[in-house]
Amino acid sequence: MDASLIYPQVDYNNYANYSPNKPVKLAVMASGNGSNFEVIAQAISAGKLNAEITVLIYNNRQAKAAMRAKNWGVKTVFINHRDYQIREELDQEIVNILQIHDVEIVVMAGWMRIVTQVLIDAFPRRIINIHPSLLPSFKGARAVEQALAAGVKITGCTVHLVSVEVDSGEILIQAAVPVFPNDSYESLHARIQVQEHRILPLAIDLLTKDK
Ligand code: GRF
Repeated sequence: MDASLIYPQVDYNNYANYSPNKPVKLAVMASGNGSNFEVIAQAISAGKLNAEITVLIYNNRQAKAAMRAKNWGVKTVFINHRDYQIREELDQEIVNILQIHDVEIVVMAGWMRIVTQVLIDAFPRRIINIHPSLLPSFKGARAVEQALAAGVKITGCTVHLVSVEVDSGEILIQAAVPVFPNDSYESLHARIQVQEHRILPLAIDLLTKDK
């Protein structure tokens, strides 16, 4: 196995309810570029992930993720967080959208909003997030910049279950990358994203087998 991948707390033997022929229904939530959306779609298309993306939820009209979804024929739903007075109302609307689309697993791939218990309770242990650091280091926004400022020699990315406390849920998979002395935000983020694109489809696959 690749030594840069670390798999804590995944029960590989828990295949009891797994139906190999039934694709798991995913929602992806994204605010930006959507390269992680793209690799999920590619993994499904290549037969590496037994899933279907039933909906992409996005909250930024400019999100390239929405264009990518349309290219893949995936339904998109725009939700403007500014229309909601409180976070719980926004999350309730998101839950409604997810339930209408029979979603089983929710993947936050660059979703730049803090979530509430309303969303978490509707999908217990079924919401994951990809974060560009080796958690618990460098939580929150600007994780790549935080790593550069701290002068760490190794950073990486983490797929974790989503909990109310930001970037603090159970870690599913991590991958490490070196930080080089001349790294910029762009060069380091690009190196991290190569690893994100490996571990996010893997994490979804592990979660579908953990049903
Ligand atoms: C990734 O770096 C992810 O870790 C962070 O947001 C970024 C999303 O990238 N949460 P993309 O939009 O999927 O390209």
